[in-house]
Amino acid sequence: MSERGRKISGEKISADIREEVKTEVERRANNGRLPGIAIIIVGEDPASKVYVGMKEKACLETGIRSLVIRMPAETDQQTLLAKVNEINESPDYHGLLVQSPLPDGLDENEVIHAIDPAKDVDGFHPFNMGMLAGGAPRFVPCTPLGIIELLKRYEIDPSGKRAVVLGRSHLVGMPMALLLARKAPGGNATVTICHSRTKDIPSITSQADILIAAIGQAKFVTADMIKDDAVIIDVGINRIDDPTAKRGYRLVGDVDFEYAREKASYITPVPGGVGPMTVALLLKNTLLAEELQYSTR
Ligand code: GUN
Repeated sequence: MSERGRKISGEKISADIREEVKTEVERRANNGRLPGIAIIIVGEDPASKVYVGMKEKACLETGIRSLVIRMPAETDQQTLLAKVNEINESPDYHGLLVQSPLPDGLDENEVIHAIDPAKDVDGFHPFNMGMLAGGAPRFVPCTPLGIIELLKRYEIDPSGKRAVVLGRSHLVGMPMALLLARKAPGGNATVTICHSRTKDIPSITSQADILIAAIGQAKFVTADMIKDDAVIIDVGINRIDDPTAKRGYRLVGDVDFEYAREKASYITPVPGGVGPMTVALLLKNTLLAEELQYSTR
């Protein structure tokens, strides 16, 4: 039997990437360049505030200029679109993201369409989605991009393997499947997407050499759904009640970690797996945005 249950540390890899980004920011600073990102957050969603705080901190640590624009929950669509346009026009901010979800009553799709595709560091604009689907990715959503980077740095090559993606969201599942199927290093897998209408999910996941869980249901993936020696990537961040925890809850992934790790060859923990990678790849996408805008000036 080969070794089981090795942890993939997103914490460590993301720290490495942040160091690399810092060095690159310093190199560009010597040429009078300063990569910048603007982040718009509307309303008071507690999880969103935490995520935006982490993004802002990572920018500070790496020397990327950041501007967090906090708008009240009552903000109307026109005001939000005007703010997006203002950043689109600003030479100081090469990247722009609008934190999701938006409060009820705001049209998220229209907002994403309004972002200049050249500044779309989230990779959610249909232009960038289309580039990825067409096999020439430019800005790719940070979470799936972070997962590809984790696999690469742990020398796990998806080529010729069976990959199963649980979830089809535009944030994770769909771009993840496209990246894994792509004819390029880090891709070349045989990919299956499972979703809420898929019949007999365990019969499919149990064939996966690489299983990506991104459905947002605590401990959905149990040990019996996993092939021996599979690589398990857990994208889920779910709150479950825990009276022994200080806040009364704790965070768990979509995978039943303790049992799954006995079957898996590699597995990502929650927290400390995929989460930190999302922020690290946002920094990388911001560098890419500045590079593209610098080279086309
Ligand atoms: N909400 C949860 N994850 C993300 C993300 O990666 N980008 C944005 N804009 N909103 C999110």
